[in-house]
Amino acid sequence: MNSRDTLFVSGNDLYIGSFKAVDLAKRFGTPLYVMDKKYIEEVCDAFVGAMSAYGDGAVAFANKAFATVATAKIAAAHGLWFDVVSGGELNLVLRAGCDPKKVLFHGNNKTEREIDEGIAADIGYFVVDSINELELLDRKATAAGKPRDVLVRVNPCVSAHTYEAVVTAAPQSKFGFAVDGDALAVIKDIASRKGLNYSGIHLHIGSQIYDHSSYFDAVDIITDFMKRLADEGIVTDILDMGGGYGIYYTDKDPKFTPRRYAYTVENIGKCVAEAVEKKALKKPFLIVEPGRSIVGEAGVTLYTVGAIKDFPGIKKYVAVDGGMFENPRYALYESEYSAMVANRASEPADEIVTVAGKCCESGDIVAKDIPLQHAETGDILAVFSTGAYNYSMASNYNLNAVPPVVLVDGDKADYIVRPQTYDDLLRNNEVPSWMN
Ligand code: LLP
Repeated sequence: MNSRDTLFVSGNDLYIGSFKAVDLAKRFGTPLYVMDKKYIEEVCDAFVGAMSAYGDGAVAFANKAFATVATAKIAAAHGLWFDVVSGGELNLVLRAGCDPKKVLFHGNNKTEREIDEGIAADIGYFVVDSINELELLDRKATAAGKPRDVLVRVNPCVSAHTYEAVVTAAPQSKFGFAVDGDALAVIKDIASRKGLNYSGIHLHIGSQIYDHSSYFDAVDIITDFMKRLADEGIVTDILDMGGGYGIYYTDKDPKFTPRRYAYTVENIGKCVAEAVEKKALKKPFLIVEPGRSIVGEAGVTLYTVGAIKDFPGIKKYVAVDGGMFENPRYALYESEYSAMVANRASEPADEIVTVAGKCCESGDIVAKDIPLQHAETGDILAVFSTGAYNYSMASNYNLNAVPPVVLVDGDKADYIVRPQTYDDLLRNNEVPSWMN
């Protein structure tokens, strides 16, 4: 269990806010994603507070971590900007009523349609990631008579201490322009174009990072680069340091409070302020883009235990009514999670079990070899820290419905994403007339 104070055990029950987990499971069914509004707000406020210690800057929520209208509204109400990576995410934040000027549009291969949509919505910044994109954007913005402010994704080529699939600043990354490669020429090119205004630099070194030194290395490299630009007469007004702050999943990870997350941003801010002063650069407007740390620990997934298979002395499987369709992170990254039998919460976790999903793949695992209370069929299992990259990466594999999402706010709980029906699953199916 993580360190959220809205998550606690009383008697033999796990509570989420003022609700027994088993009551939420009964009322809304399982599998169920449960998100805690208070925790999301606390982290947003902590980040915004940390940024104000730096001065001019913004905290943008990386919407890809958890994309719903309700959470976008919460983030916007707490002063956050948005990082979007597709036309779909852009549409979501606009529908949530977010200010388009506070939207950063990322992506290494934005489609023409997405570029048109970003221009039409008059978003704040395109984060340009390729020559193709900058040429297309320049052409479109010039034709529309609307020059666009752009950030350029620069790859600082630092090694972040995390797992490979989420490292984004390796020299051969598909993202951005290498700091010692094309970046300088690309920015000079942008500065000379009619349809584009060079506003600054974006970088993102990876995800689930605990070690601040990776960020400090990136600041050092990028401010050296800003100096090279300044020497060419190009001023960098904005520096976007991306996101990536690690959260607690299991006891192998540090337990962070919202205050502790804020400390990461304070540290990055201090490091940037010192570096620009030392290198005689204009102090940039600083942006950070946390995703996982805002929503990750706010989420709990509730399941009903079904089949139990015991191979004595070898392995015990506890199968649940979810799996890789609602949490593909073990299948993709062998991610680790901690869990609890919500209706046996104070019993000792003295069995080692593998929580298996219900999809037709042996790799369909939710959590491997974890300590757990003795579970019986019909029990409610809670898996913690599932708020980030679970719902947002869910699919309908095996035609399983994506579970609904319920938001808990103290003594209130309601859907922010409704359950999918069988009709929803087939909504876009067609049988062409020539088949009949
Ligand atoms: N900014 C950019 C440009 C990003 O690409 C990302 C995440 C973020 C910000 C937010 O990073 P965060 O604070 O959430 O770590 N699906 C993987 C994580 C992929 C992260 C993609 N980019 C997972 O489940 O671990």
